[in-house]
Amino acid sequence: MKILLVGSGGREHALGWKLKQNPETVLHSAPGSPALKRLGEIHPVGVDNLEGLRDLARTLDPDLVIIGPELPLVMGLADILREEKFNVFGPSRDAARLEGSKVFAKDFMVRHGLPTANYAVFYDESEAKSYLDKTSYPAVLKADGLAGGKGVIVCGGRAAAMNALDTLRATGAGKRIIVEEFLAGEEISFLAVTDGKTVLPLPSSQDHKTISDGDKGPNTGGMGAYSPAPLANDFLKNHVMETIMKPAIEGMAAEGNPFVGVLYAGLMVTLAGPRLLEFNARFGDPETQAILPLIESDLAETLLAAASKTLPDRELAISPKSCVCVVMSSEGYPGPHRLDDPITGLDAANALPDTVVFEAGVAERDGIPVTAGGRVLGVTATGATLKDAVDRAYEAAKLVDFKGAHYRRDIAAKAFKVNPLSG
Ligand SMILES: Nc1ncnc2c1ncn2[C@@H]1O[C@H](COP(=O)(O)OP(=O)(O)O)[C@@H](O)[C@H]1O
Ligand SMILES: [Mg+2]
Repeated sequence: MKILLVGSGGREHALGWKLKQNPETVLHSAPGSPALKRLGEIHPVGVDNLEGLRDLARTLDPDLVIIGPELPLVMGLADILREEKFNVFGPSRDAARLEGSKVFAKDFMVRHGLPTANYAVFYDESEAKSYLDKTSYPAVLKADGLAGGKGVIVCGGRAAAMNALDTLRATGAGKRIIVEEFLAGEEISFLAVTDGKTVLPLPSSQDHKTISDGDKGPNTGGMGAYSPAPLANDFLKNHVMETIMKPAIEGMAAEGNPFVGVLYAGLMVTLAGPRLLEFNARFGDPETQAILPLIESDLAETLLAAASKTLPDRELAISPKSCVCVVMSSEGYPGPHRLDDPITGLDAANALPDTVVFEAGVAERDGIPVTAGGRVLGVTATGATLKDAVDRAYEAAKLVDFKGAHYRRDIAAKAFKVNPLSG
């Protein structure tokens, strides 16, 4: 099967790695990365160059195109490729509004009775300000559009909310602002593969967004993940499938925007049950790095079946093991950070059993791997228990080094706390 994978990050390395476990897979990536080059051929076409990607697809004539990041989905890459009759794993532009517009997503949730926080939408800043004068705190302010993880601010009081309005305006994604009720609880990520009709859950996971241990410091693109999350027991998984995932996919189809791809629900598990914080329209990063090693079904076949709307109504085969991904980042990240530092120890880490280092921001200089991004690596290990997986991932992380390397020491620690929400 000839596959064109769009993207270049750690998520795409994990996808390429998993797809190549099928010996029939011939992998092409655009723009790809040094890691993806080791798995196939890479083509220097950016993820936002829709015409370039269409031309590349015409030349390669792949059996399947998988779109990794949100930007090309929201821009309509899937539509352009479907017009050319390609099998595309990824939602249309209209369906990707579930991620691309938080206002669309919230209104959709209400239209279809999906559980979510109460909210109000403002088109006008002075109206938002007078609402913020009288609302209760904490309150959550959200910019409507894609903001690269910088579009949501939890505000403890009115003064913070006024500052947040300015910050959100500066992202350029904040023409419309949502003010949302604050939800207390614990977050999990719940992903499902769908062909627009059949919905197959992937293992649950938990992301770690802040830069420092104990969920302290500024938010990042994600500093680590583990799967499955013990909080998502069978009861909760079933409940989320029946009350959130399936109704969402039915709702999109009923509105004439069938959703094909990965539907990602960001959930707050509250004492009153799971509540939707957001939808994403693609595989999460770094959740994917922790989820894919647990999937025993053939990924290429599964995604092709979804893309061609023939997904069998049969649960995916999932390993009973656990998996942990520890992200190593550059000094300074998520602010201005170091770059171009040589990385050592990758081969030694990759040689450990059940361990793989996914490369997120790595370039090659004179044949040597160097840092080329804020998030550099996702050191990933599986184990019979979550504890084994944690120990292995950290053992591997210790072998890898670059100047100013940073990583959290508490990935998955939450899973070992007694949780009043479970059971
Ligand atoms: N209603 C809410 N109550 C409490 N925390 C929230 C709420 N909405 C969002 N958050 C916090 O903000 C983070 C980012 O919000 P989210 O809606 O996932 O947007 P994005 O991922 O696009 O930045 C969430 O992971 C969660 O920690
Ligand atoms: Mg989120």
